[in-house]
Amino acid sequence: MTPTPLTEMTAWKALESHAATIQTKHLREMFAADPQRGERMTAEACGLFLDYSKHRIDDETLRLFQALAAESGLEDRRAAMFRGDKINVTENRAVLHTALRAPREAVIEVDGKNVVPDVHAVLDKMAAFAESIRSGAWTGYTGKPIRNVINIGIGGSDLGPVMAYEALRHYSERELTMRFVSNVDGSDFAEAVHDLDPEETLFIVSSKTFTTLETMTNAHSARVWALGKLKQTEAVAKHFVAVSTNAKEVAKFGIDTANMFGFWDWVGGRYSMDAAIGLSTMIAIGAENFRRMLAGFHAMDEHFRTAPLAQNLPFLMGMLTVWYTSFFGAETVAVLPYDNYLKRFPAYLQQLTMESNGKHVTLDGRHVNYQTCPIFWGEPGTNGQHSFYQLIHQGTRLIPCDFIGFAHSLNPLGNHHDLLMSNIFAQAEALAFGKTPEQVKAEGTADWLVPHRTFEGNRPSNVILAEKMTPEILGQLVALYEHSVFVQGVIWQIDSFDQWGVELGKVLAVRIIPELESATEPDLRHDSSTNALIRRYRRMRRKQA
Ligand code: F6P
Repeated sequence: MTPTPLTEMTAWKALESHAATIQTKHLREMFAADPQRGERMTAEACGLFLDYSKHRIDDETLRLFQALAAESGLEDRRAAMFRGDKINVTENRAVLHTALRAPREAVIEVDGKNVVPDVHAVLDKMAAFAESIRSGAWTGYTGKPIRNVINIGIGGSDLGPVMAYEALRHYSERELTMRFVSNVDGSDFAEAVHDLDPEETLFIVSSKTFTTLETMTNAHSARVWALGKLKQTEAVAKHFVAVSTNAKEVAKFGIDTANMFGFWDWVGGRYSMDAAIGLSTMIAIGAENFRRMLAGFHAMDEHFRTAPLAQNLPFLMGMLTVWYTSFFGAETVAVLPYDNYLKRFPAYLQQLTMESNGKHVTLDGRHVNYQTCPIFWGEPGTNGQHSFYQLIHQGTRLIPCDFIGFAHSLNPLGNHHDLLMSNIFAQAEALAFGKTPEQVKAEGTADWLVPHRTFEGNRPSNVILAEKMTPEILGQLVALYEHSVFVQGVIWQIDSFDQWGVELGKVLAVRIIPELESATEPDLRHDSSTNALIRRYRRMRRKQA
């Protein structure tokens, strides 16, 4: 049955006219009218506390969010995802990253088969391998223990592992050097290995498909680099393992499939950091901490699955993103973690959000007549404050912000932590309430300078607080955003789990490679710009040669 187009839904139309009223109101008035707002508009789940009071919403907005969810069949779609229905329609696949963190006794079926035992079998295999590396029991070809681990992957096979390693570095084995190579730019690989000894280095080649150009190119260069010293091809088995769904290609590369860690087509690349793609994370932090992270993911899954929508964190955050994107013309969301360990979290979220919801057609192939996914970006606080916050405070665009902070530092140092956290609270306060011309004048500011020093305010933000950065909290945070992305995708009626938009560029690059490498002048049949660029590049290369 063709669903009602989004913009024809009753709740959508109601939200449209409601937005027009809300746009005339200032957060100052809303807070003045409701002294309890800051306590009331909050929600808590697992270890995360969300203050969403500084949003341009009122109780009617929240009611309409739920009405839109009901009209969009959100709860049925959520049930379908958790049940393993093939909700990724364009790839005819189930979407079951939630099964990756399900407890051993859970039963989740795909095509009539319970997948949970397979998930735990891989986790157990990963744990045994991670322990053998951490303990030094696994030795390289020449008998030396492994001291360096390099994950080679890109996209979901890189961003999750890097982000999680950085986020949980405090819990990591400091004797091991962990590095990540993703870019096909040779400099990435060269810098990653320049001070390492192949005899002590393990490569994890992480690729769901094991055909990705960047990853396979880096993996082949890694093999050349390693064999440059180790000489014997049998050494590959001791220095390379694979994480993939493609056993055939893994074997072709020369990796013993006994050292391959599998996952399944129902795990999307950007949803795979808690599958075997997290092997580097597990080696760094140990199996127990990895399982704590999975428990955090699972706790948030259960919250999302069962909590009433009014208190449901992913629902609230997802709907707020829809609200600003579709009704306020907001084009971006800034993610601002006030924790240095989360420095790669915004980069990780970019793939999760934008590869998932950067779509312009609905599930049934209609062109949307509303905006979908905003651009996610950000930097850890307080660095961003001294760079781009000016625009968030006084620029011409509306940029909803997610502030993320912790009550306790993992590295208590003098009063650093209170200084750090005072900035979250101050920034969210300044964005919401600003500073009126009257306030600026009252400070004795010259009239001509008043407009420059005025802050309009009325700029929305979430504040997410947790006790401290732990593996559980990281799992909860990631799952919170995963499910928020899901909510947005359901409302926008798009397939959040395919990524056709990355295909065309890949195909064209494969066609261009021989044109760059050919010894004779190639017969170029692109547009005049592409042809000219290729010719110029070839001339520049010849000149240097
Ligand atoms: O960028 C497209 C993409 O397919 C991502 O979805 C994926 O995470 C990445 O490439 C890497 O793919 P693979 O793990 O198969 O190498």
